[in-house]
Amino acid sequence: MDDAIRIERLSKTFDGGRKVLDEVALRIAPGEMVALIGASGSGKSTLMRHIAGFIQSDPQPSYIDILGRPIQRDGRIVREVRSIRTDLGFVFQQFNLVNRLSVITNVLTGTLSRVPLWRSLLFLFTHEEKAQALAALAEVGIGELAYRRAGTLSGGQQQRAALARTLIQRAKIILADEPIASLDPESARKVMDLLKRLNGEHGLTVLVSLHQVDFAMKYCARTIALHRGHVVYDGPSSALTPHLLRHLYGSDAEELLAPAALNELEQNATPRTGLEAEVGTQRGAASMSAELPAVSPAVSAMPGNEASWSAKVEPRPAARPRFARRAS
Ligand SMILES: Nc1ncnc2c1ncn2[C@@H]1O[C@H](COP(=O)(O)OP(=O)(O)O)[C@@H](O)[C@H]1O
Ligand SMILES: [Mg+2]
Repeated sequence: MDDAIRIERLSKTFDGGRKVLDEVALRIAPGEMVALIGASGSGKSTLMRHIAGFIQSDPQPSYIDILGRPIQRDGRIVREVRSIRTDLGFVFQQFNLVNRLSVITNVLTGTLSRVPLWRSLLFLFTHEEKAQALAALAEVGIGELAYRRAGTLSGGQQQRAALARTLIQRAKIILADEPIASLDPESARKVMDLLKRLNGEHGLTVLVSLHQVDFAMKYCARTIALHRGHVVYDGPSSALTPHLLRHLYGSDAEELLAPAALNELEQNATPRTGLEAEVGTQRGAASMSAELPAVSPAVSAMPGNEASWSAKVEPRPAARPRFARRAS
């Protein structure tokens, strides 16, 4: 079977000449749920964006395949990138919903690669598509919020809506870039529970970047650790003791060890050694905040959804959806 994600020799040097990813290689099998950890600036978002084909790698022999299809080769993004991207669902720290649109419309944008362009531009969706969106929202536990404006939802609820969008998109792989970094612990737990369920029950492959290792240990059997653009660890999450993390990250390790987790983990930890001194301590620059827009107007249109469309969801942002019932 093809790997869900396969990367060989991926390097990225940004304009300033700094190498942010250095010969990254990894393989993720279909159905795995893998954590990607690393202190801020270690290259997690850059790696995710390469996998999604949003930025191209350095021009050297390298490849990134998604389910056996190349999305980049030797520093070039393939022409069929949009079609390959339909297998990828995205979830970001900053939620990436369109705040002024209803939750259900945001979810329905997950169908955009399948509906004709004219229909998607007008936000026209079929009854069937809307039923699917409602089912997806029910699945993630926020069915009753379908007609609320996305911007009025809590962070945790917005992340669930983003996951409902990946469901109706019929994505096979979820790339979740720090999906819980802006959430309180309880909401974070719920979003991770949901990711785990989508992985377990729907068989979705999940690559989730996390700032803190305790969530990686709790939810993902396998962790890939990045440090300054290198994969410094790829193996069982359970082996990531504070001792090993300090060895890998030096003082940056503290960033990965949440206080609660630290206390718990310290119980079994071996004493510190001088090993961490071998690893540099300078922390990378702040991570990029801007991510891609969730709704790309340039979504490729595919012909012929023959189901008859009926109601407009939101012809204009200011207009009240015709069929919308106010959430009580
Ligand atoms: N478009 C860009 N141009 C220049 N430098 C960038 C760009 N994107 C990211 N970087 C740099 O690459 C490094 C890794 O960033 P990032 O992938 O966002 O890390 P992480 O997600 O692990 O915090 C950082 O030093 C960041 O400043
Ligand atoms: Mg990041």
